[in-house]
Amino acid sequence: MFNKLFQLVSYDLGIDLGSSNILIQVLGKGIAVREPTVVARNKKTKEIVAVGSEAKKMIGRTPGQLETVLPLQNSVISDFDATVGMLSYYFKKLHESHGFRIKVPRPRVAVGIPTSVTDVEKKAVRDAALAAGAREAFLIEHPLAIAVGSNLPIFEAAGILLVDIGGGTTELAVISLGGIVINKSLKIAGTEMDEAIINYLRLKYSVLIGLPTAEALKVQIGSASDSGKNEKMMVVRGRDLSNGLPKSLRVSAAEIREALAPILNQILSGITDIVEETPPELLGDITQKGVYLSGGVSQLPGLESLVTEIAKIPCMVVEDPTSAVVRGCSKVLEDNELLNKVMVRGGVR
Ligand SMILES: Nc1ncnc2c1ncn2[C@@H]1O[C@H](COP(=O)(O)OP(=O)(O)OP(=O)(O)O)[C@@H](O)[C@H]1O
Ligand SMILES: [Mg+2]
Repeated sequence: MFNKLFQLVSYDLGIDLGSSNILIQVLGKGIAVREPTVVARNKKTKEIVAVGSEAKKMIGRTPGQLETVLPLQNSVISDFDATVGMLSYYFKKLHESHGFRIKVPRPRVAVGIPTSVTDVEKKAVRDAALAAGAREAFLIEHPLAIAVGSNLPIFEAAGILLVDIGGGTTELAVISLGGIVINKSLKIAGTEMDEAIINYLRLKYSVLIGLPTAEALKVQIGSASDSGKNEKMMVVRGRDLSNGLPKSLRVSAAEIREALAPILNQILSGITDIVEETPPELLGDITQKGVYLSGGVSQLPGLESLVTEIAKIPCMVVEDPTSAVVRGCSKVLEDNELLNKVMVRGGVR
């Protein structure tokens, strides 16, 4: 009976609990949360003082009694309490009543999870959603969520190769007949790229920049291959390691490309490896249809053409590559038949 009641007064939510960004879609309404996965809290009482972009701004600037926490590392929950606190904050916020319509934060949720994680890690995601107030929590593996969110025909007997390059992990998977045939996960993605930029500038100029500055360089002037056009430069500030004083640096797009090359090479090797391991019957489909890229890093200019050149398969970025997981989770949640076919079962449900 309570379930029926909650159904009337609570929303259904699709959730992408990423290492860098959390996205929540309210079914029938659209994406309502798109925020950095960061929590700021009191060190002693653990009381949360800020979440999302407000908490991200506090990184490296907190006074003694506060700390900023990244609740997920490499797409896995590393701080359970912070994850629960963050989810319950958003559940409450989304259900705040408007006018006379009272909403209770007991949502039914579908959360995306990586394929290559343990059952214990998967269960932690479900437990966190339930502890945050969800009355039912379903888990959907990222590749299936991305494919559904991108309207790809997952139930056909034809291979689909997906590569999701996020903040903490690169997930590669081949889907056929509604299931994952093979998959791979690399613990290298956007954050490793930021670290590679920091190391590059430290070694070349003896200047230390912060992670947010490195991320800004990657997003604003980063690229995977030379466009041949007049390239951008960017001026950043860091610390001169020879004397400890602040120093400005003018950084070129070519330098960022050089810094990113080793990381991109590892991702490209991951792609060629999974192609080599793909059963021949599915390989034909993949070489015809190509590889689908998603995740924040898929927006790096020149990446599509680099993958096409190296893996010798056509490559395309899915539509709105950062919201494919949340759109897929939402679509699955609104269709019971589809939910029954694709949700994670067994010990974690
Ligand atoms: N235009 C861009 N070019 C390159 N990288 C970008 C761009 N925009 C965002 N990114 C990077 O994408 C990463 C975040 O991607 P995304 O939101 O898909 O990750 P996530 O889902 O939170 O992480 P994960 O799936 O690994 O747990 C960050 O490292 C960010 O800097
Ligand atoms: Mg992701």
